[in-house]
This record gives sequence, C-alpha cells and structure tokens, in this order.
Amino acid sequence: MRILITGGCGFIGCHTIKEALDRDDIERLVNLDALTYSGNPENLSETNDERYRFIHGSINDTETLTSVLIEERIQIILHLAAESHVDRSIDSVQPFIETNIDGTRTILEAILNCMKEGLEIHLVHVSTDEVYGSLGPNDPAFTEDTPLDPRNPYAVTKASSDMMVQAFVNTHGISAATTRCSNNYGPNQFPEKLIPLMTLNAMEGRSLPVYGDGMQIRDWIHVRDHARGILATMDGLLDGRLDSGEVVNFGADNEMPNIDIVRTIIRLTGASESQIEYVTDRPGHDRRYAMGFEKAERILGWKPEIDWSNGMKDTVEWYRSNPEWVESVRSGAYREWIEKHYG
Ligand code: NAD
Ligand code: TYD
Repeated sequence: MRILITGGCGFIGCHTIKEALDRDDIERLVNLDALTYSGNPENLSETNDERYRFIHGSINDTETLTSVLIEERIQIILHLAAESHVDRSIDSVQPFIETNIDGTRTILEAILNCMKEGLEIHLVHVSTDEVYGSLGPNDPAFTEDTPLDPRNPYAVTKASSDMMVQAFVNTHGISAATTRCSNNYGPNQFPEKLIPLMTLNAMEGRSLPVYGDGMQIRDWIHVRDHARGILATMDGLLDGRLDSGEVVNFGADNEMPNIDIVRTIIRLTGASESQIEYVTDRPGHDRRYAMGFEKAERILGWKPEIDWSNGMKDTVEWYRSNPEWVESVRSGAYREWIEKHYG
C-alpha cells in the first residue's frame, strides 16, 4: 500500500504515522505537512524508516499535491491537515476556510485529475464529532445518521469539508470514507487544547482557566485508538467492507465534564485546587458531545483499547518527561496566542 498522509506532523497525524509504520503491508508513507504553528517535525524525530518521506508543503498547493500523487504512485490519502482549534476559529475564521474547506477542495480536485489519467486514488477524510452540534444531558449519543448541525466556526468548516467530500463521491464517483471522532488526548498534543494546557499549567504552578461552569461534557479517546480507527477505515474502504461515501464514528464511551478532567490533572501532578480559575465562557460553547461507535465495532472490528486512567497517567508523565518538546513548541507565536486569549 502506498499512502499519502496530510498533516502528519500534527498531534493525531504523528501517531497515525507511527501506527502505520508498525504494519508490514505499507510500502510507502509520504507525509505532506505545511508546518503551521501546530505542526512539529520533532513529533516524528524517532521515525527512521526508509518507507517514510516527509515533504514540507501545503495541501492548498495543487501543483505539489498532484506531483506527489503521481510521482509516489499514491493509492490512498489519509487527510488530517487542518486548522483544529475552536478558540482560534472564533478569533479568526479565515485560515479555517482556507485550510479546512479550500484545502479539502484541492485534494478532491487532485484526485479527480488523477482519475482522468486513469489512476484511482482513495480518500479517508478525517473529521470530527463537532459537526453534529451539541447534545442535551439526556440525549442519546450521536450516530452516523445524526443530521449535521455545526455551531462554531471550526465545526462549520469541518462540516463543509465533509459535505464537499460527499458531493465529489456523488457527482464524480470518487472513492472516499469520512471518519468522525470525539476529543483526543495523549502525548504530542499542542498545549492550546484543554488537557496539555492544564497539565503544563498545573505542573508550573500557574492558574487553570476553566471556561464557564466547567460542566461541558466531551467523550475523551486516546489518540492511539483514534489512529487505529483511521487505519481500520482505510482497510474497510479498500477491501469493500465500507462503500464509498460512508461515515464512521469513533468514540470511547468516556463522557466527562471538563472540571473532572482538571481535578484529575491536579491529582496526577500534585498541583493545588486553588489554581482553578473560572473564566469567561467560550462564546457558543457546545454543552455535550457523545459518540456512538457501534458501526466501527460491527463493520471494522474496532474498539477503544486504552483505558482512561492509564491513558491519562501516561499522558501526564509524557509531558513531565519531555521538557525539550514543550520548549520547542512554545514559540513566539504560541506565547502571543496565550497572551491574547488568556490575558
Ligand atoms: P493539529 O492542529 O495538531 O495538526 C494539524 C496539522 O496539519 C499540523 O501538522 C499542521 O502543520 C498541518 N497543516 C495545517 N494546514 C496545512 C496545510 N495547508 N497543508 C498541509 N498541512 C497543514 O490537529 P490534530 O488534533 O492532529 O487534528 C488532525 C485532524 O483530526 C484534523 O482534521 C481535526 O479536525 C481532526 N480531529 C481532531 C480531534 C482532536 O481532538 N484533536 C478530534 C476529531 C477530529
Ligand atoms: P478543547 O481542548 O479546545 O477541545 P474542543 O473545543 O474541540 O472540545 O476544549 C475541550 C473543552 O475544554 C471545551 O469544552 C472547552 C474547555 N476548555 C476550558 O475550559 N479551558 C481552556 O483553557 C480550554 C483550552 C478549553
């Protein structure tokens, strides 16, 4: 199998690459990443595999994309490249439209151009539970049939990209499947997201900024379980267990309010409850996400394997024992964001 992964230097991308290189049916793995603020080549510094190639470039660059697809004889694209942080999309949606919508459009058109040359390139489009909107406290979990109802700018750009993929399946006959996953945690996550931000702040004696009442609920899944889900979707699309156009949800049946997560981090780091600071809520903050993943279990034989308490212990330990990584991602751009957003 010859794979192109987009956004492979990001959080989920680097774990997907490591999982893929553990398999011996992968002949080539090319990583196209623009190295935006959240893309970090150090996430793959130990990847010394001759099947792996890194290309510094953008999915929005049609020429680079098309030449990589042809030169490398790519059979399947795992598309993860994105602007991924909700708070940044509230601050400015423009980069989200450019990468998440227009970047996905570029990938679809490149696939179409290759199809016209007689090449078949499949696509796994990696999306999110946020496209389904927000659940009430007693609502059942989202399924693949839940109507799209994105409620923040990030989610709107992801839902748009999902619909564009569907449109290219329906009108141009491309082969694509879409994954939608709940909130990921684990090593290598950029410290603007809840768990790494709180872990580092807790260890450094700084305040822990909880939005609103801290009772918003997410269904937390370990990043390696999600990476396995992306590869299982690739297998399902290639061997016909999934038809083109199908969506698969991934979750961990692990719903938790934010404040419980912060308290877990306080316990694991030996920080103090007095570090908790309730701050102004995120505008339009979705109250609850929960993912039903029965389809992934039934069709792909996938299930989450990493238990939350072990996963969190290992994650906090990873941030504690990798100060060089933390230092390397805290660039000027990172400090500017923290200063602007948290004051
Ligand atoms: P991330 O922000 O850590 O990584 C994004 C990567 O994409 C970075 O390496 C960045 O350099 C790269 N990138 C950005 N723009 C690019 C461009 N134009 N061309 C090439 N590369 C570009 O994000 P993540 O958390 O790893 O998320 C990966 C994917 O998974 C995203 O599509 C996201 O929507 C989706 N997702 C994330 C979560 C989560 O909890 N983090 C949950 C469900 C789905
Ligand atoms: P985040 O990690 O940004 O993921 P998402 O918005 O995709 O769910 O946030 C997870 C939850 O944590 C979300 O409900 C917002 C909340 N949150 C805080 O309370 N404080 C913070 O500083 C951050 C970054 C998030």
